[in-house]
Amino acid sequence: MSPDSQSPPLAPALSVRDLRKTYDNGVQALKGVSLDVRPGDFFALLGPNGAGKSTLIGVISSLVNKSAGDVEVFGVDIARHRSEAMRLVGLVPQEINFNLFEKPFDILCNYAGFYGIPREEAMVRAEAELKRAQLWEKAHVMSRTLSGGMKRRLMISRAMMVRPRLLILDEPTAGVDIEIRRGMWKTLREINASGTTIILTTHYLEEAESLCRHLAIIDKGTIVEQGPMKALLAKLDVEGFLFDIDGDVPTVLPEIAGTTLERVDDHTIDLEMPRAMDLNRVFAALEGANIRVRSMRTKSNRLEELFVRLTSKEGQ
Ligand SMILES: Nc1ncnc2c1ncn2[C@@H]1O[C@H](COP(=O)(O)OP(=O)(O)OP(=O)(O)O)[C@@H](O)[C@H]1O
Ligand SMILES: [Mg+2]
Repeated sequence: MSPDSQSPPLAPALSVRDLRKTYDNGVQALKGVSLDVRPGDFFALLGPNGAGKSTLIGVISSLVNKSAGDVEVFGVDIARHRSEAMRLVGLVPQEINFNLFEKPFDILCNYAGFYGIPREEAMVRAEAELKRAQLWEKAHVMSRTLSGGMKRRLMISRAMMVRPRLLILDEPTAGVDIEIRRGMWKTLREINASGTTIILTTHYLEEAESLCRHLAIIDKGTIVEQGPMKALLAKLDVEGFLFDIDGDVPTVLPEIAGTTLERVDDHTIDLEMPRAMDLNRVFAALEGANIRVRSMRTKSNRLEELFVRLTSKEGQ
């Protein structure tokens, strides 16, 4: 390998060091937060109401002044090189904040204009973004006539107009129905697959579990957990499975010490067991009761359990 082919290690997409924020009213919203997000990642920032998520996002996108600490976006210090850092970050804020009396196409082009993107280039990008968001048909209608889900998608399109390397979304799917949410997941996956790093805050834990590879949980201004999604889920000492069985589930299920077995429907049984336990013991007991397992699935969405456990350690 020639020395030329050894490129320097990539700067993290986001590096936050001992970040503190105290608002003027004395509220300490961030109490020394450190966080790393690698380039290309899909990262979930989770936490209960008032944990400090929007404050953290506000600091990263230069809307909120930090009290202390350092933030770098792709190696660019947000305090020393504010405008350069701002150009790297696209923000989808928690509340819808475009002019409802403007048309989607104009909203996107005008937004690009603020960032100095020439009109012609802006128009090309606006068309591409509206098509990706399946809003092209609505390009020239008054945005107030868009549905809630369309408005949310338009917010994402607007943030993408500046081709940010880091896209941050503050609860983008709050209050939208599951079908629209799924559509947005698809869009976000595509944006991520095309190389944009994404940080997402959400209260829907199944959303984080389905989309994100890494996560951090923040509570009362402090990071209480961070790491790969799979590793955090694996920390849970209880595992859940669903068994599809041949024939009908009997009315009385066998007792297996340390586990809970429950009937879900005529052909499905739910099992919870300690992670360290040997699954063969369960199979043996089921076979002994003449229950033949045809297939099994792991129950996903255990993030909820982890989340509750980490953020409810009141007084510890
Ligand atoms: N502009 C402000 N002035 C004073 N205090 C604020 C301000 N914005 C937020 N706070 C306080 O800072 C703390 C963190 O708020 P923040 O909005 O960052 O939480 P969050 O995790 O985004 O919550 P949510 O899930 O409800 O959106 C809260 O105690 C909040 O009341
Ligand atoms: Mg918030």
